[in-house]
Amino acid sequence: MNYKEALQHPLFKIISKSAKELGLDSYVIGGFVRDFILKRGDAKDIDIVAIGDGIKLAKQVAKQLPNKPKVQVFKTYGTAMLRYGDIEIEFVGARKESYTQDSRNPSVENGTLEDDQKRRDFTINALALNLSEANFGDILDPFNGIEDLQNKIIKTPLNPDITYSDDPLRMLRAIRFASQLDFTIEKKSLEAISNNSHRIKIITNERIVTELHKILESKKPSKGFLLLEKTGLLDYILPELTALKGIDEIEGQRHKDNFYHTLEVVDNIALNTNNLWLRWAALLHDIGKAPTKKFSKKVGWTFHGHEFEGSKMVYRLFKRLKMPLNDKMKFVQKMVFMSSRPIVLADDMATDSAVRRLVFDAGDYVDDLMTLCEADITTKNPKKFNKYHNNFKIVRDKIIEVEERDHIRNFQPPISGEEIMTAFNLKPSREIGIIKEAIKEAILEGDIPNEYEAAYKLMLEKGKKLGLKNEKG
Ligand code: CTP
Repeated sequence: MNYKEALQHPLFKIISKSAKELGLDSYVIGGFVRDFILKRGDAKDIDIVAIGDGIKLAKQVAKQLPNKPKVQVFKTYGTAMLRYGDIEIEFVGARKESYTQDSRNPSVENGTLEDDQKRRDFTINALALNLSEANFGDILDPFNGIEDLQNKIIKTPLNPDITYSDDPLRMLRAIRFASQLDFTIEKKSLEAISNNSHRIKIITNERIVTELHKILESKKPSKGFLLLEKTGLLDYILPELTALKGIDEIEGQRHKDNFYHTLEVVDNIALNTNNLWLRWAALLHDIGKAPTKKFSKKVGWTFHGHEFEGSKMVYRLFKRLKMPLNDKMKFVQKMVFMSSRPIVLADDMATDSAVRRLVFDAGDYVDDLMTLCEADITTKNPKKFNKYHNNFKIVRDKIIEVEERDHIRNFQPPISGEEIMTAFNLKPSREIGIIKEAIKEAILEGDIPNEYEAAYKLMLEKGKKLGLKNEKG
């Protein structure tokens, strides 16, 4: 079969010509070919395998390109990379690899194309297109990758135990591809992952997180997380989630399985947002429930303070996985911490002051918080489901209404501390804080509008009550 149409970009002719000049064969391999056949849009990463010196080929190609890009060489891996516009091209020489059991460093020997294809992760990632002039675009598919693409199945070219122990990250990649592409993992491959799951411990957190992001970004992330759970990988990667598994029953009282609930919430939110960090918040919104779970005869199961506990756990989890401890982490923490707030509003009719307080506390994130809380409605009782959704719609409308009127988002007090000091001829003191708080409370309660005049008047009243003298009498 020929896939010339995949190689229309002028780059491929340049690579072909450069390889010819060096007297070697070259192929496009891996994700680019897979994604072309799956019609997943133009890939920006291109992997080239040379039967010979890949680094030399990269340098030869760079010379021919109009912008003469810099070639980045990774000596230890025998690879080279260059950028052309927004395309990243990676070059590698075909290798015959055997890994030693106690080390992740492969011993590298030059090999044929088939040797190289054999040591790749999956049959669907081992497809290669010939770049030689005579056979330009011919596909080389020794492991029936095309058939597996059609059957939507993930298989390893070699015995899966070998493929996964060569690079245990591949266990996660298999699950990520299954989730991302909605593919099935072949039975013996899945068994091999279960048997080797403990080996994920030798993989760096950064590489693990990259795959977790991709699972979360898929259309139905629960597919990936269920596979992670089934194979035992989740226990090593996110034990906070597996701790949510199970239903306890005491004296006939049960609570829901918070693990499966969480996955439903993640799937729900994936329908409404592509914001990766909001999806993370959905995944972690209930993690505080495991350590706070209690049973009492009077009230049954409770999870008091799980939002606060959960937000503290977010920090520890991000730190452990070497994820950024920046505003993204703070956003996830805030979402987890506030994740029960709107639900309370949805139970009954929300008052204006409750909505104002919500907007005050959530600030710019109030819409994201509403999206999270809508996704959190997983009740199977249609009456309750409709009631909650309708009430949330009302809350959303009220947020807009209250915002237009009171400008609570990113609240700035209408009267500054300085002004209070001047008005009562005060030095910095606790009275200033008391007056400021009283003004804020009155605005949030709706006793006064969020305006200067009204706030000034209230300041004078409060000052008087505190026994302060106004300068102007
Ligand atoms: N590969 C592999 N084992 C790995 C990682 C990668 O065999 N642990 C091979 C596969 O042939 C893969 C290619 O290297 O197709 C390129 O890897 P990468 O760029 O990480 O992934 P892609 O398959 O291109 O997919 P994506 O861009 O979605 O990550």
